[in-house]
Amino acid sequence: MDKQLPVIAVLGGTGALGFGLVLRWALAGYPVVIGSRSLESAQDAAERARAILAERGVRAEVGGLTNAEAAAKGQLVAVTVPYAQQQAILSAVAPALAGKIVIDTTVPLMPPRVGTVQLPAGGSSAVAAQALLGDTVRLVSAFQNVAADKLQGLEPLDCDILVTGNDKEACTAVIELVRQAGMRGYYAGPLANAAAAEALTSVLITINRQFKCQAGIQITGIA
Ligand SMILES: NC(=O)c1ccc[n+]([C@@H]2O[C@H](COP(=O)([O-])OP(=O)(O)OC[C@H]3O[C@@H](n4cnc5c(N)ncnc54)[C@H](OP(=O)(O)O)[C@@H]3O)[C@@H](O)[C@H]2O)c1
Repeated sequence: MDKQLPVIAVLGGTGALGFGLVLRWALAGYPVVIGSRSLESAQDAAERARAILAERGVRAEVGGLTNAEAAAKGQLVAVTVPYAQQQAILSAVAPALAGKIVIDTTVPLMPPRVGTVQLPAGGSSAVAAQALLGDTVRLVSAFQNVAADKLQGLEPLDCDILVTGNDKEACTAVIELVRQAGMRGYYAGPLANAAAAEALTSVLITINRQFKCQAGIQITGIA
């Protein structure tokens, strides 16, 4: 019998980055739950995801729930909300996250100067999330350096993903989810190193502006 794949909840999966991850994980066969502040928005997004994947002949298992319900249902939980909302949303769903792998994708962009690195006190938004949630949550930081449009395009991606966290086994599980989403993921050290991936996004935004592109990163020199 096939091994049952875990349910992945994507809080903020109605948005740009989260919806791309929803599509890619559902395409890979994972049951996915989109979380939103609004049940209706979550269900609409889930219907949209199922329709996009149906066009590719895939009968995807995607549902929509409120953020709190999705956090409770997900065996792994990805958080894909703007930096300004990250702490409030995590606080609201915290009781449902104990013991789970939580993937934080947040970049601490501070408009209007989004092309300038402005990391928060404490080092990074990932470190702040771990501090808020406590050590029972297996926090992993990833996906800061991939463009949402490229994810949603569902084409093969030549973009690498830096994966950081203090729980090595949790990082390995997330690297597999990166692979299932069609990219290469690299363990890039403890959660303190999430600062590097978060900072890199402002560097990429600066490059995007010069070349009118959606730049990503690639790790070279690996045999
Ligand atoms: N966009 C990218 O290319 C990209 C790339 C790498 C990393 N990231 C990071 O990924 C995260 C999500 O980025 P995104 O571009 O996907 O964001 P987004 O589309 O602006 O928002 C994502 C979702 O967050 C919820 N949200 C938005 N405003 C909110 C508010 N005021 N209060 C509570 N919830 C709110 C919304 O969900 P509901 O309305 O359904 O609740 C929305 O669909 C950010 O931290 C970003 O830095 C983005």
